[in-house]
Amino acid sequence: MKKKNLILLFCCALTSGKAEAHDIISSRYSYREHVLPILEAHCVRCHSPEGPAPFRLTSYLDARPQAVAIKEEVLLRNMPPWYAEEGQQGLIGEHRLSAAEVDIIVEWASGGAPEGKRTPGGKTLEKIKPPEVADLELELPEQILVPGKQRETVRLTLDTGLSETVWITGWELSGARADLLRSASLYRVRIAPENYLGTRMSIDGKLSWAAGAKLEAGEDLALSILYTRPWTLGDKRESVRGRLRIWLSKTRPQRLLHARTLGETGDLPPGSRLFGVLPSTPMKLKASGETEDLLAIFAAPGHWPLLYRFNEPLKISGKLEAGPKTRGIVLYTAP
Ligand code: HEC
Repeated sequence: MKKKNLILLFCCALTSGKAEAHDIISSRYSYREHVLPILEAHCVRCHSPEGPAPFRLTSYLDARPQAVAIKEEVLLRNMPPWYAEEGQQGLIGEHRLSAAEVDIIVEWASGGAPEGKRTPGGKTLEKIKPPEVADLELELPEQILVPGKQRETVRLTLDTGLSETVWITGWELSGARADLLRSASLYRVRIAPENYLGTRMSIDGKLSWAAGAKLEAGEDLALSILYTRPWTLGDKRESVRGRLRIWLSKTRPQRLLHARTLGETGDLPPGSRLFGVLPSTPMKLKASGETEDLLAIFAAPGHWPLLYRFNEPLKISGKLEAGPKTRGIVLYTAP
């Protein structure tokens, strides 16, 4: 009898005391042992001081207040920004959480978001590759970001100053604050689907094709740039500059890069290889006569323009089909 009372008292004291100071910990998973490795694999390239995201997830102190938001974002599949379903065809840089990883995050966030044991040191520093020398560097005009506007898409043309015909083989955005200059789509001459040369975030590094896109002497390049104002800026006016770095070939490469809209009917040229897709709507992309989807996209939010690229450019003969209401641009190479 005495013993029972004692146990009861002890339990009450424990739970009430704990509930005041912290949440009750029911999660089997902790930040340090289970959650951080997932964040490092899928989130930290953006949620770190150099990334575009407005807060970091690299320490418990930073991640703990976001626990509920993290759970919601991963359940809604808003984060990480990657809206392609797992498919037969592997994509470059897939950033999809597995069901097991989602479960760990959900249990952690719902179960008191414990920190877990500190594991001693041991974080290996990533080797930073020295930047490749580009053939052409063009400064982007300064952009002022005024309070009150969260996002802005700016279209501009850039004079390359080139006096001979060249073939563009790759490009990247650089020298910009990734939180302000989020991403850009590049076009030859002017913004039109058939001139499309890919989309890149400022943290992404170089995009290249093992093919060239022809630019005649005197022709311009055009960009559609997505600028963002993270909430951390408050009322501050901020300006951002960036640079476009371009790689060129002076002789015609064996294969040329082409783009077309998804709505365009007709066969792709013989020997075509599908390089990637920029979706503007959800879609299921197929090669005509095939049953398997080449790519299935479940969302295409305007503030996350993403070019999905295949690990290996796909050999395609015939037409591409994506359904009547789908929109987007496909990039392919052909001899
Ligand atoms: C490609 C960059 C990128 C990656 C990868 C990324 N995020 Fe984000 N995240 C952002 C940006 C940028 C924002 C700010 C909101 C916006 O601009 O859309 C954000 C916002 C958030 C928010 C706040 C959402 C809100 O509006 O309340 C949460 C929570 C979040 N991210 C969690 C995650 C988690 C968890 C992962 C990994 C599983 C992840 N993010 C991966 C860029 C990224």
